Amino acid sequence: MSMTDNRPLLEMTGINKVFHKEVLRIESLSLDKGLIYGVIGPSGAGKSTLLRIINLLTPPTRGTYRFMGEAFENGNDRERLRIQREMALVFQRTLLFRESVRHNIAYGLKARRVPRKDIEKRVDELLAYLGMEGLAHRRGDTLSGGEAQRVAIARAVAFEPKLLLLDEPTANLDPRNIALIEDMILSMKRDKGITVVMVTHNVFQAKRIADEVIFIDEGRIVETGPVERVFSSEAHVKTRAYVEGRMIY
Ligand SMILES: Nc1ncnc2c1ncn2[C@@H]1O[C@H](COP(=O)(O)OP(=O)(O)OP(=O)(O)O)[C@@H](O)[C@H]1O
Ligand SMILES: [Mg+2]
Repeated sequence: MSMTDNRPLLEMTGINKVFHKEVLRIESLSLDKGLIYGVIGPSGAGKSTLLRIINLLTPPTRGTYRFMGEAFENGNDRERLRIQREMALVFQRTLLFRESVRHNIAYGLKARRVPRKDIEKRVDELLAYLGMEGLAHRRGDTLSGGEAQRVAIARAVAFEPKLLLLDEPTANLDPRNIALIEDMILSMKRDKGITVVMVTHNVFQAKRIADEVIFIDEGRIVETGPVERVFSSEAHVKTRAYVEGRMIY
């Protein structure tokens, strides 16, 4: 294995985001390849802001941002697009096109200039891999919330991004679809070595699927560490209060 393979996928230091006040400060955060990161914390803590910064939707105004070993200079739009092409972002609710599921999934591949002749094969393989063949010909706007969200994630991973960013992907879904989506995420990690950052309000979900947990409170990363430690008596006192439902906010 070469040295580059051991480098973190993403490293950020000294980055903050100011709106009317500072809403997020990242002293230091590093994401390793092939892990699932669960981001938890109270409403308004800065979880979605963190995803937007990782995705460069909100470019950092200072500090350092290094993706796959290369530093990103703020204002370099070509570089920003290049990095963004390696990532996929899925929100709590996704609008699908009013066309077939196959077409919806093919869209991301076309946008990334995958040769037309390869697209159909890749869409079929992906739908089979995810056990979603049954939905292939359904129209995007006729799906249930859970089905639509599974398709949204399938569409996001179709071009095999290095980093999958999920903002509360299972909020308001039924237990069956939640389980199916968690299985999707775990198999993508296992089979394709994808790195995932998932924001969730459900601490049990983080416990179920995350390797590492990032706990954010009041715009600060209070703690990041292996799931076993974060959910143990060794966790930071604030983290413990939050995961045990004792935090007042
Ligand atoms: N575009 C914006 N303009 C002004 N303030 C913003 C903007 N986006 C976010 N904020 C503020 O930044 C803080 C963090 O917001 P963020 O959406 O990251 O929180 P969150 O942890 O994702 O919350 P939730 O769990 O409710 O989704 C909040 O105080 C929010 O009001
Ligand atoms: Mg949010």
